[in-house]
Amino acid sequence: MKDLLRTEHLSRADVDLLLATSAEFASKPLRSETALHNKTVAIYMTKPSTRTRLASESAVAHLGGTPIFIRGDDLQLGRGETISDTAKIMSGFCEAIIIRTFKQSDVDELGAAASIPVINGLTDDDHPTQLLADWVTITEKFGNEIKGRKFVYLGDGNNMTHAWLIMGAIMGAHVVAATPAGKWAPDAAVVAKAKEIATQSGATIEVTNDPEKAAQGASVLYTDVWMSMGDPESERAEKVKALSPFAITDHLMKLTEKDSIFMHCLPAHRGEEVAATVIDGPQSVIWRQAFHRRTTIQALLYHLTRGELKGR
Ligand code: CP
Ligand code: NVA
Repeated sequence: MKDLLRTEHLSRADVDLLLATSAEFASKPLRSETALHNKTVAIYMTKPSTRTRLASESAVAHLGGTPIFIRGDDLQLGRGETISDTAKIMSGFCEAIIIRTFKQSDVDELGAAASIPVINGLTDDDHPTQLLADWVTITEKFGNEIKGRKFVYLGDGNNMTHAWLIMGAIMGAHVVAATPAGKWAPDAAVVAKAKEIATQSGATIEVTNDPEKAAQGASVLYTDVWMSMGDPESERAEKVKALSPFAITDHLMKLTEKDSIFMHCLPAHRGEEVAATVIDGPQSVIWRQAFHRRTTIQALLYHLTRGELKGR
């Protein structure tokens, strides 16, 4: 596998390798400090980012390389140069590309045209690097034995929901997405893909519109913002109303297992998708998740530039 364009492209063996390496980069950040010595990595973003940008730049630095951060409108791409021509130029100067943008198809096209690894740093449809950080954090908490545990996402059926379902499927987990029906439900094609992967991994994929049923006996309650980058502001009032039953409150946390944790990819809106008492409470692992954004992107860069991921 040359790139990480979509969560579904990862095999279980790839995830296991990445999580193991990430754990090493957590305790020894400079373990491979010459891996990208004298090399550059382009980080191209047409959407804002705090964590993914800082994690990516730090990861490159810890591998001995130099990150080149490029904002959306910096490139001739914005003036009509093709993705394919841009990919060829970037491939001539850099060792890898991390891209955050709107359309998944643009990231797929960049990956196809570039001769160097391309990593999806978030699209409207997916967020694979986030899920790697999430699963290192989950594994730190619960170990590798996840049978009988339920991993629940509540909220908007967005890029995070998609990645949550697909990664849960790869990991053989019982994953749940609790979202409103209709407009803000996850894409049917993604749910079908998660179920297809589950037939091989033994995972259970559950999609529901009932937040209390979903939270009952859960080991993880996960949420994300209700308004994602690029969502039309004109829909805000309607969307917030539809999503309000899915807010993670103390009441929902009380329905979960005794050792349950609260997770959020961040940025968060306290009092909207999650109560401040939950996100800032003792069950919250948000800072550990954010910490692992660097360790997992570092592991990805390390293994992808060495051609060590197999893909599905
Ligand atoms: N979780 C995440 O991707 O955060 P940023 O948008 O700040 O990169
Ligand atoms: N769903 C959010 C995730 C941010 C990390 C967005 O796309 O804006």
